[in-house]
Amino acid sequence: MATPAPPGPARAGASSLKEGGTVAPVREILWGSAAGGHKYETAEELDPDLAKLIVKLMVVQADTEFASIQQHRPWLDRAPTLEDRWIESRIVADEARHGLQACRILRDFGETGQKFIDELLSKREGQHKLDAFNMPFDTWGDVGAFTCFVDRVGVYQLRAFQECSYGPLARAMPLMLSEEQLHLNFGSSVLRRMVKDGPKYYGSKAEAQAAVTKWYPRALDMFGHSNSETSRRAIEFGLKRWTNEEARARYISEVTALMGTVGLDLPPAEFDRHVL
Ligand SMILES: [Fe+2]
Ligand SMILES: [Fe+2]
Repeated sequence: MATPAPPGPARAGASSLKEGGTVAPVREILWGSAAGGHKYETAEELDPDLAKLIVKLMVVQADTEFASIQQHRPWLDRAPTLEDRWIESRIVADEARHGLQACRILRDFGETGQKFIDELLSKREGQHKLDAFNMPFDTWGDVGAFTCFVDRVGVYQLRAFQECSYGPLARAMPLMLSEEQLHLNFGSSVLRRMVKDGPKYYGSKAEAQAAVTKWYPRALDMFGHSNSETSRRAIEFGLKRWTNEEARARYISEVTALMGTVGLDLPPAEFDRHVL
């Protein structure tokens, strides 16, 4: 199927302007086999396979949010400048709110959801689902590369849910996306400053380059398997907009252009790939 266009007020039928200029929420399902119908508003209305898929995706989502708090935590009072410390604390607060938001969706699924929430809250460093969230931030370059690359994949995942068929999830996206934007802008700015100012700021260009080489492959792995049946089903259910491969390809072209402006090299996309 064709890749759906990004949602936005300019698209006819996607949203409508209410009095006062606020954008009304989109009520209909925009893609997939139920396109044109009303969005689902309660867990009870969902096809059991769709319900399972939402639970699975929200468990992974919440797990990444809580894990990244553990990764950032040591830098709350070690980041090089006062502003960097403030942004670190802001990121930690945002990720905690995102974890809460994903758990609120899980609560819609009663006892099953609650069981997952309890498990999520007991997880320690090294016990998370995705490799990128089990690696500590040893250097300040790690903090910059993680927020630049890994948070950016997070943004792609959230954009894929934008205006999805499950209303409570769709409505959680705008705020999460605007907060994530701060994180990845911070990440590229840290790398840029390390390249441009070196030790006058903190670290060095070589440290920034090593961090890019370390985190880029782990970020790409987060897109999941190529030809994934789950990602195809997620599109059919109106839950996700893109296949894993489509999202991965867009991401690669975005970060390739970005690193050109920062002055750092990306390894080839297949370098150190763990998830095929
Ligand atoms: Fe987040
Ligand atoms: Fe983030």
